[in-house]
Amino acid sequence: MKVLAINGSARKDGNTAILINTIFEELNKAGIDTEMVQLSGEIIEPCKACWACGGRKNCVHNKDMFQEIFEKMIQADGVILGSPVYTANISANMQAFLERASVVTDMNRSENLFRHKVGAAVTAARRGGALNTLDAMYHFFMLQNMFVVGSSYWAMAYGQMPGDVWEDEEGLETMRNLGRNMVCLLESLDESKDKK
Ligand SMILES: Cc1cc2nc3c(=O)[nH]c(=O)nc-3n(C[C@H](O)[C@H](O)[C@H](O)COP(=O)(O)O)c2cc1C
Repeated sequence: MKVLAINGSARKDGNTAILINTIFEELNKAGIDTEMVQLSGEIIEPCKACWACGGRKNCVHNKDMFQEIFEKMIQADGVILGSPVYTANISANMQAFLERASVVTDMNRSENLFRHKVGAAVTAARRGGALNTLDAMYHFFMLQNMFVVGSSYWAMAYGQMPGDVWEDEEGLETMRNLGRNMVCLLESLDESKDKK
């Protein structure tokens, strides 16, 4: 099994990446493969509303990384969306990515591209806007017939400069619990596939 994480931060290997890696540790312990795609240094273009993706199962525009990441998402059993809080919301790159991903799935409904995959969202914040940021990412999962994983608290941790989240022990423990819950759900779903 494999879990793909998309890190929408403009900062490579910053706080959001640390949180994702903390979840990955739990997944790796259970033998689940992981990969993180970091959008830092990339520009994901917004949806052009051309509707050309119908019947194509991917966006038709290929000037950026979208197609490659979307294909990886389709192959994965689980998807983690990570974004730092930027002006009380997800980063512009994550917004652009989710715009296009939502339109592609909407235009290819009968393909059920993400049905019964497992989704989780995480965020890093300096101070305010974390819940809104998480919700923005949950909204994508909730119209894909996906299963969303919770934790012992909302999946956020506090810090401003890279590495600050190491000081937020409750935030890190929330990520570890999220990872353990994700393992539990992925394994249960895998078992139920075998029974079918
Ligand atoms: C453009 C921008 C906007 C931000 N807006 C907020 C905000 O509204 N609320 C907040 O708590 N932190 C805000 N921050 C701080 C980041 O969320 C915080 O530094 C976070 O740890 C960054 O995670 P990263 O290291 O993964 O990039 C902002 C940072 C940037 C660059």
